[in-house]
Amino acid sequence: MSPEKVQELVKEIERKDLSTAAHTWRVVLYTRALLEEFGVERELIRLVTQAAALHDIGKIDIPDRILQKPGKLDYEEFELIKLHPVTGLARMITLGVSDEPILNLVRYHHERWDGLGYPFILRGEEIPMGARVFAVIDAFDAMTSVRPYRSELGERAAENALIELQAGIGTRYWPEGVEAFTNLYHTGKLDYILHYFNDEVPVPAFAAARDEEFDAIRRRSEK
Ligand SMILES: [Fe+2]
Repeated sequence: MSPEKVQELVKEIERKDLSTAAHTWRVVLYTRALLEEFGVERELIRLVTQAAALHDIGKIDIPDRILQKPGKLDYEEFELIKLHPVTGLARMITLGVSDEPILNLVRYHHERWDGLGYPFILRGEEIPMGARVFAVIDAFDAMTSVRPYRSELGERAAENALIELQAGIGTRYWPEGVEAFTNLYHTGKLDYILHYFNDEVPVPAFAAARDEEFDAIRRRSEK
């Protein structure tokens, strides 16, 4: 997919209030950082990064009354939410996307290492690596991003989120993924991404998400 096409879809996801631009950028940047750490080749990183930006695209097909429901979801509502990896996959295919790394992340991003995820109930290494990596990242970002009901931010939130990830090793999360992510955090290599902790911080357009641009963002932030 062209970066412009991804941008268009990311905008659609944001318009529907399914995600914020800052969340998209953070998960995209964490995904790149972690895949680079694993020595994944550039073309694959490019595809998985696009998928990271679009992971929840299937939520467009879930009724607003469920997505925006303030209280706890009932059984049936949650069953519907659990379909978003499938509706996302259908959307990708309808758009003519055939790259397996993209399709795999969209359809498997809620699978768990112990096989208790959804909706395909894959386990361990049956789950493609991109989706395993992404599950760690999505959880970390959910625990560290700004929410109206959580005042605890920044470093403390990150440290607590890492403890949660460690606690989920072997159950929710891929052990090597959590270890690598934790190491990246402790060596300061995620600092430029943590800059986007605050959802109010303006972010670049996703169309800028070419290799050179990512590298430039990192260099600018490291100054
Ligand atoms: Fe999701």
